[in-house]
Amino acid sequence: MNLKYRFIQKVSPYIPQSIRTLIRSKISLKDYDIARRRAENPYRDIKEENFPGSEFKLGIIEDVTQYHKYYIAACKELRVSYKILSILDSDWIEKFQKSGCDAFLVWPSSMPTSAKEAFDYRLYILEKELGAIIYPTWKECWFTEHKPRLRDWLEANGIPHPETWVFYDRDQALEFARSVDLPVVVKTAIGGSASGVQIVRSKKKLEKIIKLAFKKGLRPRSYDPNDRQWGFVYIQRYYPNVKEWRMVRVG
Ligand SMILES: Nc1ncnc2c1ncn2[C@@H]1O[C@H](COP(=O)(O)OP(=O)(O)OP(=O)(O)O)[C@@H](O)[C@H]1O
Ligand SMILES: [Mg+2]
Repeated sequence: MNLKYRFIQKVSPYIPQSIRTLIRSKISLKDYDIARRRAENPYRDIKEENFPGSEFKLGIIEDVTQYHKYYIAACKELRVSYKILSILDSDWIEKFQKSGCDAFLVWPSSMPTSAKEAFDYRLYILEKELGAIIYPTWKECWFTEHKPRLRDWLEANGIPHPETWVFYDRDQALEFARSVDLPVVVKTAIGGSASGVQIVRSKKKLEKIIKLAFKKGLRPRSYDPNDRQWGFVYIQRYYPNVKEWRMVRVG
């Protein structure tokens, strides 16, 4: 990290959380965030490792927020050869084709949303057009960090889920807001740890959020001030005493 970023990192623990949130809502710290996360990846300078006797070679797709470091740790521990590849490079197709990898591990990026968009369509190309084996598959990555996609998929497959409305038309959304029983929950498509979730208890607030969604756009708390969800709104019925369950299937 350069001197400026190291300085920011040093002083930030002394700034109260509310001020930090305010600064982040006004100033873009995207490059700092990427540099900070990269600095926290102990394997950041390794591009490739070949272990004698490794049955295959895996391509590990680099995540902007560096979570792919866990795949590197696993490959090291299991002594499986691997190569780090960036799917965000302009010449990524050529690089992936020439990589000599038998399959690819991906921890899809969703921050910023431009990375999410690129991962979604390039993983599709990698799996469906280039015939590569990816784990998790393109479809699972496509669902990840996109609440309206999951809502439609659950609905299409008849799987019970919270009652949810997604509007791409401002007037339809405002008309709905006039008649819906409150409270409701508004969520951005992207963002975890409730960063884009708001419980709305007044019609005035709901109208304000809808207008913002179709004007300047909505933004999860941790996202860059320029990285906004514009032109649609996701509204869910409020369920009291929600308990969060997480189901993970391996294999
Ligand atoms: N419909 C709802 N009714 C009541 N509370 C809700 C509802 N939806 C979400 N919440 C509360 O908000 C929290 C965050 O919501 P949610 O899990 O949907 O978003 P997220 O954690 O930001 O995203 P994700 O889980 O997709 O990564 C939940 O754990 C729950 O406490
Ligand atoms: Mg959650």
